[in-house]
Amino acid sequence: MDSNELPEIFYEIFDPSLSRLNPGDEASTLRALNMFRPAGSEKEGETALRFRRILDLGCGCGGQTLSLARYTKGPILALDNHRAYLDELRRRAEAAGLSGRIQVVLKDMRTLTPDDGPFDLIWSEGALFIMGFRDGLAACHSLLTPGGGLAVSELCWLRPDPPADCRQFFSEVYPAMTDVEAALSATRTSDYELLGHFTVPESASWTSYYHPVEERLRLLRKRHAGNAENLSMIESVQKEIDIYRRYSAYYGSVFFVMRRR
Ligand SMILES: C[S@@+](CC[C@H](N)C(=O)[O-])C[C@H]1O[C@@H](n2cnc3c(N)ncnc32)[C@H](O)[C@@H]1O
Repeated sequence: MDSNELPEIFYEIFDPSLSRLNPGDEASTLRALNMFRPAGSEKEGETALRFRRILDLGCGCGGQTLSLARYTKGPILALDNHRAYLDELRRRAEAAGLSGRIQVVLKDMRTLTPDDGPFDLIWSEGALFIMGFRDGLAACHSLLTPGGGLAVSELCWLRPDPPADCRQFFSEVYPAMTDVEAALSATRTSDYELLGHFTVPESASWTSYYHPVEERLRLLRKRHAGNAENLSMIESVQKEIDIYRRYSAYYGSVFFVMRRR
C-alpha cells in the first residue's frame, strides 16, 4: 500500500472517520500491552506502563495510538504515509487531551533507518505486512533498544485446511499470508523473545472493523452508481468481508508480542 499508488475510491472506502482500519479493538490492544507488564506488578491496566520512546508504525487514524497514549507514559511517534489519517489522529488526540503525547509523522515506513531510532516500544496493528512480516521484524529489530518491545498484529491462517475459494482469494490478495506457527518461528529466528500471542476475537473484528466498513460500502455503492471502476473496487472489498463471514474459523488477525533479545 503506497499512498500515491492507491485510487481515490480506496480512501473513500477506508475513510478517516472509521475508528479502526484493521480488525482490532481497544481490548485487544490492552491485552497485548499488558504482556509487557512484569509478573506480579500492579493489577493489569491500573498503572500506565512507562516507555522512553514509542513508535506506532502504520498508525492510520490512530484507534490504537490513543489507547497506547492512555495506558502508557512516554512520547509516541505515530507514523503513516497517508496525510488525511494523520490529520484525523491529530484531531482525535486534541479532543481527548492527548496531543501532548503524540507526534505524527508522514513517512514511508520502508524508508526508516536505525538513525530514526532507537525506540523501546514499537507497535504495529495490521501494517507490518507492508514491509513483509519477516523483513518488518528485521527492520523493527534495528530500530529497537536491546530488550525493547514489539507488538504486531498480522493476518494469519488459523487452520491448515481452508476451503478452496478462501485459499484462492488470499492467493490473489495476500499470497504471503502465513500460519501462526511459521509467524512464531519467524519471531524466534529474528532474535526476539516471544511474550505471547492471541487471535483478535471475531466479535471485535466485526464490531470495530468489518461492520463499519460494510456500512461505508452501502453508502458508496449509491454514490458511485454508474462508475464501473469504483464499483468494482467496492465489490472487491465486499468480497473480503464475505470471505471473513464464511471462513473466520480459518484465518484471523493474530497479535504477536515480543522483546528484542
Ligand atoms: C491496515 S491499516 C492499519 C491502520 C491502523 N494501525 C489500525 O489498525 O487502524 C495500514 C496502515 O498502514 C499505512 N501504510 C500503508 N503503506 C505504508 C507505508 N509504506 N508507510 C507507512 N504507512 C503505510 C496505511 O495508510 C494504513 O493507515
